[in-house]
Amino acid sequence: MIGAGIVGLACAEELVRGGHDVRVLDPDPGGGATRAAAGMLALGGEAWHGETDLLRLGVASARLWLEYAARLQAASGVNVDLRTEGTLLVGQDHDDLRQVRRTIEVLATEGIAFRELDRPGARADEPTLSRVAGAVLLPEDHNVNPRLVAEALLRLLGDRVVRTRATVLDGRVCLAEGTEFGCDAVVIATGAQARSLVPQVRPVRGETIRLRVIDPPSRVLRARVHGETVYVVPRSDGEVVVGATEEEHAEQPVATLGTVVRLLHAARTLVPGLESAEIVEITARHRPGTPDNGPLLGVTHSPGPVRQVLAVGHYRGGVLLAPLTAQVIRAHVEGGDIPAVARPFVPSRFGPHEISTAADHWKDPMS
Ligand code: GLY
Repeated sequence: MIGAGIVGLACAEELVRGGHDVRVLDPDPGGGATRAAAGMLALGGEAWHGETDLLRLGVASARLWLEYAARLQAASGVNVDLRTEGTLLVGQDHDDLRQVRRTIEVLATEGIAFRELDRPGARADEPTLSRVAGAVLLPEDHNVNPRLVAEALLRLLGDRVVRTRATVLDGRVCLAEGTEFGCDAVVIATGAQARSLVPQVRPVRGETIRLRVIDPPSRVLRARVHGETVYVVPRSDGEVVVGATEEEHAEQPVATLGTVVRLLHAARTLVPGLESAEIVEITARHRPGTPDNGPLLGVTHSPGPVRQVLAVGHYRGGVLLAPLTAQVIRAHVEGGDIPAVARPFVPSRFGPHEISTAADHWKDPMS
């Protein structure tokens, strides 16, 4: 497994459960997009017209999460802070609310539960909100703390996770410190870093801000605030994650003043009580975007005896899609049936593409 973000770790743990001998190689396990992610299991909140297959993939993975979180927690002893209060989609003004209603049109066609709330209903449901135009409650859009999920998976994988850069050459995995070993399959789960091998993957910068506040919202708020999109994700320990920017941006991901100010301004307009919040952290990472916003899951054509399997391009949905991706990748490695819901996401949908059998997986393609 090359890559120890939430997707790579989940795939590795599932393969270990299947009795496979797995090594996970990453110079900074859990340190990529997983570190910035807010952890919304956003089956409805990120639904959009024309992305029905992706929505169905998300629904299938969301349905795994309750059991998945409980299993990780029981096996690792790490509480991953799965919260099931649902999500409020909020429109600050009437134009914003019109946009929110466009999202629920998509949910209605897929039978996803929602309940519309008028202005007083929204304030009654979530008293920390300002005077918003209206909201929609998505009772099945839960959330989890991705950093704790990564911690749980890292504990379960133990010394199978090796902090190192890796080069793969014709089925030999060469580690930075000079050791090498053979393998039957290489699974590539390097997020936005995969762009040097998989041209369909492109970096999309996202910034999240971690706050601490005395009176946090009781559930996830995803809002349009006078045209700006913002989300506010409360954790059980009082931390609140505000996100996220979305910029087509290939340079090193750094947080910039302009975007952070816009996000915080939108968040404070939505939840005035954030005025006195302590700023704990600002994090910028690249999401792995793809041309159709869906991941690339499965065997890719590569010369030589070693199968190369892709688990990349999860864009805005790495946390949501991790448990299902793990099942799909295990099925691929074992040569079993791929769930029908994942078949639209085979890498070959973008045409024939060959992955080199000689690859430095952590090489910066900009250099
Ligand atoms: N799924 C949340 C984000 O990408 O910002």
